[in-house]
Amino acid sequence: MSQPFLFNPLDEATRRNPYALYARGRSEFPVFAHEGLPLRLFSIFRHEDCQAILRDDQTWSNVFRIEETQVQSDLAALDAEFGEPPPPSMLGTDGAEHARLRSLVNKAFTPRIVQRLEPRMHEIADELIHVAIEKGTVDLVETLTYPLPVTIIAEIIGVPAGDRARFKAWSDEAVSVLGTGFFGSLDVERLKRQRRLLEQMRGYFVPLAEERKRTPKDDLLTGLVQAEHEGSQLTQDEMLSMLVLILVAGNETTTTLIGNAVLELLGHPDQLARLRADPSLLPSAIEEVLRFSSPVQFDPRRATRTVELRGHKVERDDVVLCWLGSANRDEALCEQPHRFDIRRDRTAHLAFGFGVHFCLGANLARLEAQAALGSLLQHTRSFERVDDLPLPLPLHPSPVFRGVTSLPLRLTPA
Ligand code: HEM
Repeated sequence: MSQPFLFNPLDEATRRNPYALYARGRSEFPVFAHEGLPLRLFSIFRHEDCQAILRDDQTWSNVFRIEETQVQSDLAALDAEFGEPPPPSMLGTDGAEHARLRSLVNKAFTPRIVQRLEPRMHEIADELIHVAIEKGTVDLVETLTYPLPVTIIAEIIGVPAGDRARFKAWSDEAVSVLGTGFFGSLDVERLKRQRRLLEQMRGYFVPLAEERKRTPKDDLLTGLVQAEHEGSQLTQDEMLSMLVLILVAGNETTTTLIGNAVLELLGHPDQLARLRADPSLLPSAIEEVLRFSSPVQFDPRRATRTVELRGHKVERDDVVLCWLGSANRDEALCEQPHRFDIRRDRTAHLAFGFGVHFCLGANLARLEAQAALGSLLQHTRSFERVDDLPLPLPLHPSPVFRGVTSLPLRLTPA
């Protein structure tokens, strides 16, 4: 008799090594109905199915009602304490509303604009690596993988990078609840912390925005403030939601990508040697890390109507989780998907999502990861895990992410 398929995305062992379960999901349970949760939830494992769902934004919405279903009785009390909930960011909107919000920030992330930031990325990465090398033994998350993306995004938005400790605290808090609501582990205390966090961010950003109204600069904050001015396109709360999204989406993900790149290279010394011998492989190496060890493991959607998925009736308001981490290891996507091969031709991986919500920062993230890894390789002869520190490494608190929050390494200079 075949074993029952126990797929619990919050389970620590599953999160550490989900790939065998994903493979079984793809072959035997491509659409898997979770049981015992407060909402009807399905996991989707095949590349073809994930892509089809993400492509069809008529049937599949990005607007969720998780809070309503789970902490309904407490929501009124929350609103009484904190006022109206913040409006959703572009990530949590559909259709024309989404297009309007996205068009306001698109300009800041075009390939040409992002390319112009490349020298700055190398400069920052080099500075960070030099400090790390001086120390010899470091937590790479603290010294490189976190500070690089946050410094760049702070410069794009136009806020002092010196405030990055504050951004990190906000980002950690905001990210910690991400995705937990789907599995019934959202509670009102967490929501309260989120609302408080937003108040802190409001207190930080609103005076800066006011300053930009008086004295415009060449940055994203000025762009957003002007958008707010012209025909009241963007309200102050929408602007805040946008900044929270960019600050959080842009940092945590890229930090995780760089960390995963280092871990995969350490786990595959032949590939590391190959990359050291030929640094022109950096772009394809990063692409392979995105596929093989995807920072974002799942992308959720809500059904807007009843549909049938491989024999399952998915009803309106049911939620599906597209497992990008599984789709990217699908045998139908590439040959030998479980082999980490930095020379692989570019695959149609879904690490940045697909369709209208395709990651706004994909170009930025790729270049940042290349700069970070490039500097690390150039300025070190070798790097290794520090064995005497406690293992296993701490996993990310949110089930959306797969990566570590600390990465102690010993660096030997070139
Ligand atoms: C390795 C790094 C990154 C990964 C893996 C990643 C992944 C993703 C994914 C999977 C989505 C799709 C969400 C959906 O379909 O609902 C997304 C959307 C988004 N990402 Fe990223 N991201 C990364 C870096 C960044 C950076 C650096 C930024 C900085 C601006 C950014 C900003 C956004 C925004 C604003 C959206 C929402 C787009 C929309 O709703 O139209 N991301 N990202």
